[in-house]
Amino acid sequence: MKHLRSVDDLSTWEIEQLLHDATMFAKGEQWAPAAQTFIANLFFEPSTRTKMSFEAAERKLGLEVLQFEASMSSTQKGETLYDSVKTLEAIGANAVVIRHQQDRYFEDLVENIQIPIINAGDGCGHHPTQSLLDLLTIQQEFIVLQGLTVVIAGDIRHSRVARSNASLLKRMGANVYFSGPEEWFQHNDEPYMTMDEAVEKADVLMLLRIQHERHQEKSTVTTAAYHQRYGLTVEREKKMKPTSIIMHPAPVNRGVEIAHELVECSRSRIFKQMNNGVYVRMAVLKWALEQQKEEKVDGYSISG
Ligand code: CP
Repeated sequence: MKHLRSVDDLSTWEIEQLLHDATMFAKGEQWAPAAQTFIANLFFEPSTRTKMSFEAAERKLGLEVLQFEASMSSTQKGETLYDSVKTLEAIGANAVVIRHQQDRYFEDLVENIQIPIINAGDGCGHHPTQSLLDLLTIQQEFIVLQGLTVVIAGDIRHSRVARSNASLLKRMGANVYFSGPEEWFQHNDEPYMTMDEAVEKADVLMLLRIQHERHQEKSTVTTAAYHQRYGLTVEREKKMKPTSIIMHPAPVNRGVEIAHELVECSRSRIFKQMNNGVYVRMAVLKWALEQQKEEKVDGYSISG
């Protein structure tokens, strides 16, 4: 069974195919499975974009959405994630979309779960569908990824988006740098730029929020001080190259990592990213369901 745990589960060919399918869906192309198909969305962490865009993607593909509210589920009675997913599989879910606070939660599942698991974010680990939608957004802008300078700025160590995007963008030939407080970096040897350097050199400036919920200690830096030292201020934006774009996976903390006025400025692609998210998730669901169908046919099981 092929799952989407991280972008490493995808070959470069599969990534290109997913972006192609997402582009076709954005142009109005239709696809639907041959038989009734159920998808369960299990979100154990808050989400607006990922949860809503998966649901929009599922409905656009004609899939039946099984809603799961962690706070009203048997998780509250001590049921493990494995038992919840095994239950959904038994009930007839054809794939599960999971967001969970535990890094690599899927390691406890993959051995015995026979339906695709699509990772919608695991702790500080990975967020593959965010990376794919970010890649699509960059490709729409620049066509060729090779040689682009991408600066990912902010709370690098706690960001699954930073990890997934750095991995995918490097694979596609981009030059990836990090910016922000160095104590929030994963390794000391990561290529670094100050925000003043980043605004002049980046083709893509990708800002991240501070993930306070994952910090062990409360930060002593004030919002205003963070914005002035590490953030994209109105003054800094003026030094960006004419063709450069601003990205952010959101949610945005306006006035912290990015000035309020810049969130919707002409070089911002933040809401375009969200729009692309629906089409990328349609493509990912199609990929998951098609490969599951192929495996069933190969295994002489019922095909849908
Ligand atoms: N970008 C992102 O994952 O947003 P949500 O947490 O709102 O899903």
